[in-house]
Amino acid sequence: MKACIITLPSGKRTCPDVSSKRLSLLILSFLLLSTAFFCLYNYSFSPWRLDMELVYRRSSLPSSRAFGLVNRCDMFSGDWVPQVEGPYYTNETKCQIDDRQNCIKFGRPDTEFMKWRWKPSQCEVPPFNATLFLELVRGKSLAFIGDSLARNQMQSLVCLLASAADPVDNSYTADPRFRQWFYAEYNFTLAIFWSVHLVKSEDADTNIYPVTSQTLYLDEVDEIWANHIEKFNYVIISAGQWFLRPLVYYRKGKLIGCYACNKRKITGLSMYYGYQMAFRTSFTTLLNLEKFKGTTFLRTISPQHYENGGWNTGGTCVRTRPIAKDEIRFEEYFLKLYSTQVAELIAADGKGKKRGLKFRILDPTDMMAERADGHPNHYGHGPGANFTNADCVHWCLPGPIDTWNEILLQVLQSEYNATSLMGKSTPTNQTNS
Ligand SMILES: *[C@@H]1O[C@H](CO)[C@@H](O)[C@H](O)[C@H]1NC(C)=O
Ligand SMILES: *[C@@H]1O[C@H](CO)[C@@H](O)[C@H](O)[C@H]1NC(C)=O
Ligand SMILES: *[C@@H]1O[C@H](CO)[C@@H](O)[C@H](O)[C@H]1NC(C)=O
Ligand SMILES: *[C@@H]1O[C@H](CO)[C@@H](O)[C@H](O)[C@H]1NC(C)=O
Ligand SMILES: *[C@@H]1O[C@H](CO)[C@@H](O)[C@H](O)[C@H]1NC(C)=O
Ligand SMILES: *[C@@H]1O[C@H](CO)[C@@H](O)[C@H](O)[C@H]1NC(C)=O
Repeated sequence: MKACIITLPSGKRTCPDVSSKRLSLLILSFLLLSTAFFCLYNYSFSPWRLDMELVYRRSSLPSSRAFGLVNRCDMFSGDWVPQVEGPYYTNETKCQIDDRQNCIKFGRPDTEFMKWRWKPSQCEVPPFNATLFLELVRGKSLAFIGDSLARNQMQSLVCLLASAADPVDNSYTADPRFRQWFYAEYNFTLAIFWSVHLVKSEDADTNIYPVTSQTLYLDEVDEIWANHIEKFNYVIISAGQWFLRPLVYYRKGKLIGCYACNKRKITGLSMYYGYQMAFRTSFTTLLNLEKFKGTTFLRTISPQHYENGGWNTGGTCVRTRPIAKDEIRFEEYFLKLYSTQVAELIAADGKGKKRGLKFRILDPTDMMAERADGHPNHYGHGPGANFTNADCVHWCLPGPIDTWNEILLQVLQSEYNATSLMGKSTPTNQTNS
């Protein structure tokens, strides 16, 4: 089957195990879709062209083997299965749930969306154990960097941990986009840095560019996180929907082009280019920070589920059950963003090995594609917001995003297990074979 031959960044050729159970309908539909994309779009995205072969996604990327495995189990490929027990926490739990994702508080009537458990094909994800999590991170620190979806996961984690410990807010600023929680009993710091483009960015001049345009300085990291990150043991980095706006690109302080800005005299560059450079600059920054010894996780892009319209044209997400794998259709732009970020992670990991720095993946993209039922839709309420648009981007809390942290716990546990066996088999200082 010729379509399964892919080229890895290393230049090696490989082929997904077609007989494997992991070759689900989902993947099959990717193959079909991406083959179609390959024919249609192969050469149409200059000057920067994504290697479309990467669109075969995680099942065929090195990431599934090198980065997504816990005890040889691919945690991110599996199925949602019903479970009787309710969620780990409620809107009454002592933790902060953003009103916009507090679906139960704002009257979401159905509860089935909180009653699914993720079952990887080859193993189990044990229930979240807050005490165990905190013991694994004792004396350590973890930072999220990203947009409101990073905050969504951070708030899920604080609520999941609430059964074991009550943190103090020791944020260094009053700006709620930069929270820092301290778990005194465990000497554990959990922080979030708001950085939607990861690199330095600002609103573009609307006298010149369309409203909502953003200027990105592609080779300048956003210091708002970079100046604080050196001491962190774990860094979870993500980016997504903010790259869909018109973007104006600077490099070495000079305008080099723009995306969707409708300026004939300015070189057109794709959003993928900006996305690629944002991750490259961020990973390079982490690689170059002298005192940084942490593990970096890329949390891959989170799918949205507008149906019967777009986010601003009346689209909604009214489902109350996950959708079937064979119903899932990713849009081409989404697959390209996904492939772009994973390719940058792989490149960073290659460089990180020389320095003993780990780059890993938290890859909920596929699993969340099934969870069209997990969004606030209209049951989220910003303070004073007059919300006419449905939210099919963020995730209700509690809800399926809690699974990201259940898996994070497994990843931390397996890392802990590996380091406690250190001395014989841990390949931390070996060069790439
Ligand atoms: C929790 O949600 C219920 C509605 O299901 C609401 O009546 C209650 O006030 C909420 N509690 C808090 C603390 O928000
Ligand atoms: C949770 O983890 C702690 C610490 O490892 C352990 O003592 C406890 O038994 C675990 N709880 C459950 C329900 O497994
Ligand atoms: C708490 O953890 C930090 C590192 O995160 C460490 O420098 C400090 O010594 C620890 N404090 C105690 C009391 O263990
Ligand atoms: C809320 O939105 C509706 C419909 O767009 C509009 O008619 C109304 O004036 C808005 N109210 C406020 C307080 O902004
Ligand atoms: C870590 O090691 C413990 C004890 O050997 C084992 O029970 C657990 O399954 C391991 N977990 C992971 C994720 O490797
Ligand atoms: C790799 O690590 C082991 C154990 O920490 C050490 O004995 C060995 O010398 C290291 N090898 C290299 C090439 O640094």
